[in-house]
Amino acid sequence: MTRLADRVAVLIGAARGIGGAIARRFVDEGARIVIGDLDEVEGRRLVEELGGPNKARFLRTDIALESDAEAIVAEAMAAFGRLDILIQNAGIYPLTMIEDISAAEWDSVLGVNLRGTFLAAKAALHPMRAASYGRMVFTSSITGPRVTSAGHGHYGASKAGINGFIRSAALEFAPYGITVNGVEPGNILTEGMKAGRSQAFIDGMAASVPLGRLGTPREVAEAVLFLASAESSFITGTTIIVDGGQTLPEGPLPTAPQPHQHQA
Ligand SMILES: NC(=O)c1ccc[n+]([C@@H]2O[C@H](COP(=O)([O-])OP(=O)(O)OC[C@H]3O[C@@H](n4cnc5c(N)ncnc54)[C@H](O)[C@@H]3O)[C@@H](O)[C@H]2O)c1
Repeated sequence: MTRLADRVAVLIGAARGIGGAIARRFVDEGARIVIGDLDEVEGRRLVEELGGPNKARFLRTDIALESDAEAIVAEAMAAFGRLDILIQNAGIYPLTMIEDISAAEWDSVLGVNLRGTFLAAKAALHPMRAASYGRMVFTSSITGPRVTSAGHGHYGASKAGINGFIRSAALEFAPYGITVNGVEPGNILTEGMKAGRSQAFIDGMAASVPLGRLGTPREVAEAVLFLASAESSFITGTTIIVDGGQTLPEGPLPTAPQPHQHQA
């Protein structure tokens, strides 16, 4: 398929999980990509899986650092000569009660999730403005902008901040033909989710989703693909919720009707 034919994308936080699914989906659609991630082993393995340097490159990147944000944009320009799409998906989500969050932990979560989003956008702006074209898509969350649970004080603040930043960047970049949008995943079964959460927590989350299960990374990647493609040309400054209906219920979830209840 060719929805991203001739497009070049920088994908931050794409060695695994939701970002890995975005990388696979983008290459499937004809994009050439540069993956920036802290995890060099997984990142390089994914580049091989995706077909090697003609399709994908890897640059070790800590998106909380301005120099790394600038370096990965420069890498895309050097490798493929253009930059059409920026995905900032890197995020960390430690679960800590507010009274136990140290100032250093606060800074580290805000540093990757929110400052990293700003730094990536600022670095990508220059080539996109020069080309009068760009698609920026940031991974927010339902946690912060819509809902929350205990232990997400810093994380929720960072993701609500991303939604505010999306609106400002969309407004400022619109004159250059650059759209800025985001996705708000609900609970998605990824490596990071499995590592940081107990099975009981994951089962409890699945029980609170009207569609009855957690989402897959691919299901988030499909929404990101739409926002990164030509099909979303008149959409800017907004987010798509990908949560299986998790943010809908006002009360207990309805149970599925039994077959006999349909009989007259
Ligand atoms: N999994 C979920 O349920 C869920 C729900 C809502 C939002 N999100 C968001 O989706 C994004 C991806 O989540 P995931 O579950 O796939 O996570 P994950 O931990 O499986 O993958 C995150 C990737 O980002 C990379 N990364 C972390 N810090 C980085 C940094 N400073 N610089 C560059 N790369 C860095 C990691 O190495 C990893 O490859 C995050 O922004 C997360 O907040 C996830």
